Amino acid sequence: MLIRSANEADLDALLGCVVTAPISWAHPDRLTENLADGHYTYDWIWVAERDDRIVARAVWWGVPDGAVPIALDCVYVADGVGDPIAVASELLAAAHATFREAGADELPAYHIFLPGSWRNDPAIVEAVGWRRTAAAKVGLVDELERLRYEWTTQAGVPAQSGRLTFRDEPDDQVMLEAFVRVAEGSLDDGTRKGVAAHGVHQQARQELAIYLGMPGDRAWWRLAFDAGGELVGLAIPSANPNGPVVGYLGVLPEHRGQGYVDDLLAEITRILAADGADRIAADTDVGNAPMAVAFERAGYRQFAVRLVLSAPVP
Ligand SMILES: CC(C)(COP(=O)(O)OP(=O)(O)OC[C@H]1O[C@@H](n2cnc3c(N)ncnc32)[C@H](O)[C@@H]1OP(=O)(O)O)[C@@H](O)C(=O)NCCC(=O)NCCS
Repeated sequence: MLIRSANEADLDALLGCVVTAPISWAHPDRLTENLADGHYTYDWIWVAERDDRIVARAVWWGVPDGAVPIALDCVYVADGVGDPIAVASELLAAAHATFREAGADELPAYHIFLPGSWRNDPAIVEAVGWRRTAAAKVGLVDELERLRYEWTTQAGVPAQSGRLTFRDEPDDQVMLEAFVRVAEGSLDDGTRKGVAAHGVHQQARQELAIYLGMPGDRAWWRLAFDAGGELVGLAIPSANPNGPVVGYLGVLPEHRGQGYVDDLLAEITRILAADGADRIAADTDVGNAPMAVAFERAGYRQFAVRLVLSAPVP
């Protein structure tokens, strides 16, 4: 078996790699669009060939002109290949070695988008099963399920209790301090692992940088204060390339358990709706129960799950 990165001459063959299982994959339209706008590049598409025929294909996604990809989008192995786990893991391992040489500190995580009830569908369970085993063999051993929510105008903007006052805060240093304080005791998997691996300040700096780098308007960011003028939390309405997103919100540990999450989420929804959003997307970890139930109270509907397979934080 020959394993290599793809090139332009492979395009027709790459478009012919069709995943028939009902899971997210790099289908022909997605492949063509992402190759055109730079989120895919041939260096981030790897193939395994037998007798000059592509029998496996893996596709990674990243930012245009990035040195290394950010996420694994699709693992395809042709029907009739005896051991898809062995073929897929060999393919992923070869690509990982190249990404490391190109400077990747962390392996790109594998993001699989699934319906909320995916465990009840044997075809999805099977399609996820061998991919998960192949990913684990090459180090993507941590599993996280993110619940995907959406709000639409039909749900209406949730009411405010009036307990909090919201102020914009242009100073990133002040925002950073709020990120540091809400990270404490967080139930978010990424925050917990980041804090454990490199400390709360670096984790907060990284989270702040992510939201500053997103296409949402910085002027939307708010700090929330109670009637006594004490800081209660922060609310970051934002957007990604697909449209408006909740971004981030957090309540300081000493103010948790009073339902302030509802006020922060209402404010984010209000700001984005006032800006014209007719759909707002949001994700939270399955283990972040207070956040998940707050989405439901605010009229956000869970429509899917994102399964993230990643390497442990170094
Ligand atoms: C998620 C979060 C905003 C919830 O805020 P909140 O205003 O305290 O939520 P609620 O008041 O509705 O809390 C509901 C229950 O969950 C508990 N709870 C809330 N956050 C908790 C936490 N981090 N750890 C353990 N329990 C928590 C509350 O004490 C309360 O318990 P009770 O019903 O026994 O009284 C808050 O935990 C937080 O800031 N976490 C860190 C940032 C984060 O995860 N943001 C979301 C990213 S998607």
